[in-house]
Amino acid sequence: MNDGFRLDSQIAVVTGACGKLGPIWVEALLGAGARVAALDLPGAPVSSAFRALADGARERLQRFDCDITNRQSIEGAAAAVATRMGSPAVLVNNAGVDQPPDSSGSRSRIDELPLDQFRKMIDVNLLGTFQVTQVFGAQMAKRGSGSIINIGSLYASVSPDQRLYDHLAGDLPFLKSPAYGASKAAVVNMTKYFATLWGRQGVRVNTLSPGGVLGGQDEQFKAKYGARVPLGRMAQAEDLTGPLVFLASPASSYVTGHELRVDGGFTAW
Ligand SMILES: NC(=O)c1ccc[n+]([C@@H]2O[C@H](COP(=O)([O-])OP(=O)(O)OC[C@H]3O[C@@H](n4cnc5c(N)ncnc54)[C@H](O)[C@@H]3O)[C@@H](O)[C@H]2O)c1
Repeated sequence: MNDGFRLDSQIAVVTGACGKLGPIWVEALLGAGARVAALDLPGAPVSSAFRALADGARERLQRFDCDITNRQSIEGAAAAVATRMGSPAVLVNNAGVDQPPDSSGSRSRIDELPLDQFRKMIDVNLLGTFQVTQVFGAQMAKRGSGSIINIGSLYASVSPDQRLYDHLAGDLPFLKSPAYGASKAAVVNMTKYFATLWGRQGVRVNTLSPGGVLGGQDEQFKAKYGARVPLGRMAQAEDLTGPLVFLASPASSYVTGHELRVDGGFTAW
């Protein structure tokens, strides 16, 4: 029964692997038996969680430089992964940018929201995911198998509740950007595009949309957020690993074009 969830000796690519959620996906894939190619920007800060994994996994986890907004950089990373590790069977499109609530310096009223900030989120979250899919996904389609998991968000489905942030001090109220949800909603739609395009070539494409993940938020935020979630709390790493391995592995062999919301029921209310 459990064998369907294994990825033994398969190669999995994770973009934005060195940040907060990246190591969660990497650890889940390593745990299922995969070898993992961890892609991130050259010089990206490496979280302690990623460093700990790299120390333990040795040659089963390798790091590659890749800027997902740059086609040449993606092609370079794909060539390096092929040479050093082999052909990827799994791709986790995780790299993304958001505007954290503690970024007080960059707050603006909605009528003055800089278009450049909007463009940057679309550029990374949507166009970056598209380009990585073009390069790695096309290779999978050519080989006749693969599983692509795009990391979405609960804000792909619902608008952020700005009241979650109204206790934060600052000259201007923190306003979660409309660009973030718009970019993630587009990713959910693009998931369906590639699922239908490559279904006959054995490539499955799904979205995993996490709710807010615990990690460094202030107590008031956590209390307000938890009150909005049917399961009563923020997500933790162990809530995310099972769904990721399910979508990556043959356990989900007849699942494609799907958005798996792992949000404690946030979007059900
Ligand atoms: N943290 C959450 O609560 C949460 C909730 C829902 C969805 N998500 C999504 O999960 C994904 C990971 O989020 P996170 O919290 O780990 O963010 P993070 O900022 O901690 O990590 C993002 C990683 O992406 C990398 N990155 C940014 N731009 C890049 C580029 N151009 N090319 C390659 N890599 C790039 C960064 O260097 C970083 O390592 C994102 O897509 C995010 O939207 C996060």
